[in-house]
Amino acid sequence: MADSNQPADSKRPDLEESTNVAETHASLIEGGVAQAREKRIKETGMEPVSLWVILASAIVLLVGGSVIGAGGKLLAYSPHPQGYIRADFPTGGNDGPTSGPIYDALFKRGQKLFAKCSGCHGSTGEGNAGFPPLAGSEWVQGNTERFAMIVLNGLKDPITVKGNTYNGSMPSQAPLTATELAALMTFVRNNFGNAMGDIVTPEQAAAALEIQKSRPAGQQITADELNATHDQMLEGDPIDPTTVVDFETLEPVEDPPGVK
Ligand code: HEC
Repeated sequence: MADSNQPADSKRPDLEESTNVAETHASLIEGGVAQAREKRIKETGMEPVSLWVILASAIVLLVGGSVIGAGGKLLAYSPHPQGYIRADFPTGGNDGPTSGPIYDALFKRGQKLFAKCSGCHGSTGEGNAGFPPLAGSEWVQGNTERFAMIVLNGLKDPITVKGNTYNGSMPSQAPLTATELAALMTFVRNNFGNAMGDIVTPEQAAAALEIQKSRPAGQQITADELNATHDQMLEGDPIDPTTVVDFETLEPVEDPPGVK
């Protein structure tokens, strides 16, 4: 059975055999695979899906999906019921009114600034042992120049308030801007049962700051000096407390919003 004419190569490892084992195996394997595939198709009746079918399906899904997503009412997201109209943003911002009566503007500022005074005169202005009351005080409700001079210079020596005599020492509350002094005085003169009903204008407070410059710096004033030199109203035109101003600048507002 040996065939010596056959050249020895890797495909014919067994030189004694007339059949090429590798080729035979290969044809068997190929045939077997093909046969198996044919059998399977035959058994299930199914064929591999054509590439064209897959492509066509992909296109349908893509186009269909974009149509539904773009305009389809079914999936459209609409948070508001039909006919809902969003209100305009308020033009004045969100921090409440920015303008109002100058009385309110000064009173509110003065209320904050009163923290300077409440430690001694009490948060209700009733005073304490040794600290005279601001509530019902003739020095508060009297002429504004006296009151302003007390705040700016401080006070020493005996003073009589509502029939009681005090002899303590109040430090100067300066420095204060004209607006701060006006706000403080307006607040105290219209709170704690005091009801002067007027305002101390920043202009009048500025006049007080001018007068203070003529006094020796750092020297507390006395009741005697107050009555001798300062028992008068501060100069400056009074302002109607209801004048509408910008809360920030205290300048009158020409055409206040909401006021018709
Ligand atoms: C450290 C304590 C102290 C502080 C702070 C103080 N005072 Fe006085 N104040 C006194 C004393 C004490 C007297 C009385 C002084 C005297 O007997 O001579 C007085 C007197 C007064 C008087 C005259 C008497 C009266 O009761 O009406 C007024 C007005 C006054 N203070 C207003 C103020 C205001 C407004 C503030 C805040 C800006 C203030 N004081 C802050 C202690 C203080």
